[in-house]
Amino acid sequence: MQTIGVFTSGGDAAGMNACLRAVVRTALREGLRVIGIHRGYVGLLAGEFVAMDHASVSNIIQFGGTILKTGRCDDFYRPEGRAAGARKLADAGIEGLIAIGGDGTFRGAHALWEEHKVPIIGIPATIDNDVYGTDATIGFDSAVNAALDAIDRIRDTATSHDRLFFVEVMGRQAGFIALMVGAAGGAEMILVPELEADTQQIYDTIMAGVEQGKTSSIIVVAEGDEEGGALELARKVRQLGPIESRATILGHIQRGGNPTAQDRILASELGAAAVRALVEGDADKMVGRVDNRIVRTPLRDTWEKKKPFDQDLYDLARALAL
Ligand code: F6P
Repeated sequence: MQTIGVFTSGGDAAGMNACLRAVVRTALREGLRVIGIHRGYVGLLAGEFVAMDHASVSNIIQFGGTILKTGRCDDFYRPEGRAAGARKLADAGIEGLIAIGGDGTFRGAHALWEEHKVPIIGIPATIDNDVYGTDATIGFDSAVNAALDAIDRIRDTATSHDRLFFVEVMGRQAGFIALMVGAAGGAEMILVPELEADTQQIYDTIMAGVEQGKTSSIIVVAEGDEEGGALELARKVRQLGPIESRATILGHIQRGGNPTAQDRILASELGAAAVRALVEGDADKMVGRVDNRIVRTPLRDTWEKKKPFDQDLYDLARALAL
């Protein structure tokens, strides 16, 4: 293998740049040519390729976002789209690919391998952490810390006004961000898609807190929670009793900003590991870190197997908040 391509795809995650730096510099040291592909699968289909050298990734380890830009691409869900993508790669002489993204990215990568035998290695990067085969995805820790900073600020105003706040965090259909932020922020309640809690239970928990002398509370809500988002929950709880509440949706604030040290290190390790996997002739795998060891997981497992929800941490957070 002489030439590899690399791209970032799906929602951006802080640490993607640190990962690109590791991929490019490791590959160059292995004597490979590196082509950067802009905007994920969108740029792959449009042939948006750029040669990358040592200087292309200088001074980016500290920045959020991704210098290659990113995108979500419906065409790549179709076989014709992937066939067109494989042709573009062949025309550019790209013999192996490194895909940095989440489960949507890996589904496309796996199909590209199955249908066209393009050797491809995935690197998990999404704030959601909803990928099996790695304890943490790149960007998760940064998103948690961004959300935590916001929660600490909200706590100040909640305490001053004796108010209840519903704070909605991202995470798609998973509650990993909500759990970490809630536990670290001392939230009175954490609502996640993995566990059921109806509005009456939420109301009763708030009232139990009031009886104990709590004058303000923070409830962290995962965006995928079945009872509804922060606004909807605040409305429903208000119908059950006279509780003054406010709702805050943190939104894309969680995606931007400089990556934490943890994310930069993880990104560097996984970037280097992905290049090694390609050089060794491996394909259709994702590199991840589990129990402080770098492991390779078949791409299909990364979305078919479910990363376990940390019930112990949830129970601890709940016990300490009561
Ligand atoms: O997957 C990352 C993520 O930020 C999710 O947490 C969220 O549901 C989604 O992307 C938002 O997507 P978009 O930026 O396209 O609105």
